[in-house]
Amino acid sequence: MDILIVGGSGFLGRELAHQASASGHTVTATFTTRAGDIPGIHWLAMDLRRGEEITRALRKTEPDVVINAAYRKADWATTADGAICLAMAATQHGCRLVHVSSDAVFSGADVHYDESATPDPITPYGAAKAAAETAIRQLAPAAVVARTSLIIGDGDSGHEALVHDLATGRRKGVLYTDDIRCPVHVTDLARALLELASSDHTGVCHLAGTDAVSRHELGVLIAERDELDATMLTAGRRADSDSPGALNVRLDSTRTQHTLRTTLRGARDFLHRER
Ligand SMILES: NC(=O)c1ccc[n+]([C@@H]2O[C@H](COP(=O)([O-])OP(=O)(O)OC[C@H]3O[C@@H](n4cnc5c(N)ncnc54)[C@H](OP(=O)(O)O)[C@@H]3O)[C@@H](O)[C@H]2O)c1
Repeated sequence: MDILIVGGSGFLGRELAHQASASGHTVTATFTTRAGDIPGIHWLAMDLRRGEEITRALRKTEPDVVINAAYRKADWATTADGAICLAMAATQHGCRLVHVSSDAVFSGADVHYDESATPDPITPYGAAKAAAETAIRQLAPAAVVARTSLIIGDGDSGHEALVHDLATGRRKGVLYTDDIRCPVHVTDLARALLELASSDHTGVCHLAGTDAVSRHELGVLIAERDELDATMLTAGRRADSDSPGALNVRLDSTRTQHTLRTTLRGARDFLHRER
């Protein structure tokens, strides 16, 4: 397949590009600031805020599938409007679309969210992701909207960098014990997204790990895997802080998992350290 990975220079995008290329697909990956350095990938500068760049990219690459892994948290123009423009363009060009969304579309009021749950965001980021989802489902009903949770790697995600900084005293801060998510490993997530890209799935899919853990428990698991001093990680409660955001959001991926060959492991599994 010819695959266009929008946001290919990002954390998830790089893993998608790496796996897709290793599987023999022809891969073009986009960036806005800096091209990646994965061999065998065509890199293309493309800004989702510029409709003409989206059109040019699709004309140039003529992909079978577009995977949108791009976002900028505080930027509605990228995360909502840009994603919607991309969906319209992909539909016009007859390309399959896999759009990556987030558990941030949920408030946490209901705690457990399966694929049928209705978004009720409570942050600007969550609202941008929910707006993109709603529009894409109308404009591109054959698209996959894949919601995921905290994306963890083998040391290279932002979440792991934060834990390293806290555990070594480079940064001060707390990890919340009441802020609960279902983290996923980036290799599982990329594999599942590529599986969906080459399938005939449509609509909302959930691609989160099987374990619900707090930010603090996640930090301890990362610290233990990386042989850092987990006692350096200060526990706190988001409910007692001024920090806005959902508390307990558990994406239930059971329905999607039944349709996949890829196993979405839980954080306690993929962060387990052999002793
Ligand atoms: N990370 C998580 O824990 C998490 C959790 C839930 C959902 N998600 C979702 O997963 C997806 C990937 O997240 P990630 O952590 O891999 O993101 P990331 O590392 O921050 O990468 C974001 C990508 O988007 C690109 N980008 C930013 N602004 C753009 C614009 N205006 N036009 C086109 N591309 C733009 C960036 O390009 P440059 O770097 O070149 O600017 C980069 O390639 C996103 O949809 C996010 O909402 C992530």
